[in-house]
Amino acid sequence: MKQITAAVFSPTGGTLRAAQMLCGLWDAPVRWLKAEDTEQKLALAADDFLVAAFPVYAGQIPAIEGLFENYTGNGTPCVILAAYGNRHYDDAIAQMKARLERRGFVCVGAAACITPHTFAPELGAGRPDEKDKAVLAEFAAGVEKKIREGGGSAEVPGNPEPAPKKAVPVPKTRDGALCRICNLCAQACPAKAIVPGVIKFNPERCISCMRCVHMCPYGAIRFDSTALTERLKANFSTPRPVETFL
Ligand SMILES: Cc1cc2nc3c(=O)[nH]c(=O)nc-3n(C[C@H](O)[C@H](O)[C@H](O)COP(=O)(O)O)c2cc1C
Repeated sequence: MKQITAAVFSPTGGTLRAAQMLCGLWDAPVRWLKAEDTEQKLALAADDFLVAAFPVYAGQIPAIEGLFENYTGNGTPCVILAAYGNRHYDDAIAQMKARLERRGFVCVGAAACITPHTFAPELGAGRPDEKDKAVLAEFAAGVEKKIREGGGSAEVPGNPEPAPKKAVPVPKTRDGALCRICNLCAQACPAKAIVPGVIKFNPERCISCMRCVHMCPYGAIRFDSTALTERLKANFSTPRPVETFL
């Protein structure tokens, strides 16, 4: 492959780390795109290669309008990388495959990779690790071989058209004593859910990705997910393996 176009949505950095690990396994330069820049239209050719990386939210693709719908392919091979917090990816891969294939891509492979859970980072702590990398290396080699041999759409599990499901809302608070109204959070919010100038959160738009909490330089935004965190830790602590589909 001559170049990798890696379109990544990663509000708190886990998906990006997994995408960097995967893309580093191919011997090709990488063009990195922020997938949430949905205004950035891009048409890829048959000999291009797309890696579409995103975190799983409520078993689906994050509910950002137009996410991954600004790219078009022309029989372009693509690989899906779903990062999730050790619960499950449910329909997310099938949903993304349908979305990309409607737009002219051929999903030659998909990987589901465990990363720290936003609301229970103990789940997926240190992942992806060296063991995961070995699985991804085998997958990367398989993808390369498959593309060389003419590609073909991979079979993936899940429902490609699941009914929209809202992720559990996790309310946030702003500490007025720490916040300097620098507006960085409003600028970085992928859901445009923060009103700049006053730093108010719009619960209708918020997708609870926690990018604002993660990136605030003053630690002024916090959330309390105690009940959800406890439920996740009680039920989903057994480490899951990376799964790949070719
Ligand atoms: C709103 C929300 C919903 C999530 N839903 C799931 C889920 O259904 N299954 C799962 O295993 N992890 C789930 N997670 C965990 C994320 O998929 C995981 O933490 C991912 O690494 C976050 O990506 P990022 O670090 O690139 O932001 C969810 C996280 C958030 C913020």
